[in-house]
Amino acid sequence: MSRAALLLLNAAQVVTCAGPARARRGAEQGDAAVRDRVGVAVGADGRILAVDSDAALRAAHPGVPEHDCVQGVLTPGFVDSHTHALFGRARYEEQELRAAGVGYMEIARRGGGIHASVRDLRERSADDLVALATARLRRIAAHGTTTLEVKSGYGLSLESELRSLRVIRRLAGELPLRLVPTFLGAHEVPLDYREAPRDREAYIALVTGEMIPAVAAEGLARFADVFCEPGVYSADESRRILTAARAAGLGLKLHADELENGAAAELAAELRATSADHLAAISEAGIQALAAAGTVATLLPGTMLFLGRPKQAPARALVQAGVPVALASDFNPGTSPTVSLPLVLTLGVSQLRLSVAEAFVAATVNGAAALGLADEIGQLAAGFQADLALFDVRDHREIPYWYGDNRCLRTWVGGRPCAGA
Ligand code: NIG
Ligand code: FE
Repeated sequence: MSRAALLLLNAAQVVTCAGPARARRGAEQGDAAVRDRVGVAVGADGRILAVDSDAALRAAHPGVPEHDCVQGVLTPGFVDSHTHALFGRARYEEQELRAAGVGYMEIARRGGGIHASVRDLRERSADDLVALATARLRRIAAHGTTTLEVKSGYGLSLESELRSLRVIRRLAGELPLRLVPTFLGAHEVPLDYREAPRDREAYIALVTGEMIPAVAAEGLARFADVFCEPGVYSADESRRILTAARAAGLGLKLHADELENGAAAELAAELRATSADHLAAISEAGIQALAAAGTVATLLPGTMLFLGRPKQAPARALVQAGVPVALASDFNPGTSPTVSLPLVLTLGVSQLRLSVAEAFVAATVNGAAALGLADEIGQLAAGFQADLALFDVRDHREIPYWYGDNRCLRTWVGGRPCAGA
């Protein structure tokens, strides 16, 4: 056993989420294993040694440096399992357009939306993208997130997609956060692939025949994802792309049934995807298919809020059907420019009608499962990585309650100070 390097003491509560190292579903999702008046011992190897009373930890580990948690609440660092955090300029002008009645898909048809971000990103240098992302990722970390999935998808050319993923790799090396890269070359059909012979078929051939092999050969991504949505990629096209990705050794994710139903959840289940994401327009058959496949449903309530759409994913029906539910930010310049996982927890409770415990499990253990990392992160229990967030509240239910505020005092990743240090 590793010796202790740090004791986190004087916490009012610890949200441990301790339990099996896999996605939690049904009643299990409702147990965040909250403990009062305990502390956490962190080993020299960056893993958790024990969660126990302060007195017991001090007795077992005399002379070890202590951090005073000032009667705050410790939680597992949030696992934000769905972001598009690598982008150039913000797209604030689209928010007003939508308020004036121009829909998200209509903005895209006019050459805005994802296309606007693609034009912008292609013109920027790698250094510029690193600088922009670094500032944004630091804000995200300051709100309690310690692991973040980051998708490519604003390049949409072989060169630009590879460059995006290399930038994400560089960020992973430079920042104290854990980053998980996802290849999203099929985020849109680029505007320069709209007419034969350079048509959508030619672009899909580029994604499957060149991009995916190159991404896999360089080890640039752990997952592949597709925006499967009427008007973007059909279920058949998505199946072809994800099948190629799986053959290349990538894990699978899917933007599924986000705005309109296209039986995309059923496709995610058929392919045994690790997660199906969004799901505001999922059908009853889609819910049953996800439950049978054990695919994590990653819900992104910030997106529907920011788009001003009245419909949210049927979180209660998903939990009741036995689908493990994760919560994530969808952080991106078009539909969800929030850096705050605590705000996403608020929406999880107030819009999706999850209990607070269900929301915490969704943003920790189940987020980890959505990244294939449930055996390493997402819970505060012996042997897991010491990824923690400390909040300036007395009760964990205050974290989703004070919405729009940031009560995160600091975070640790692998026992090392990350944000707020
Ligand atoms: O998850 N749906 C596709 N992708 C993003 C939006 C990307 C953008 O508008 O830039 C989403 O909502
Ligand atoms: Fe997304």
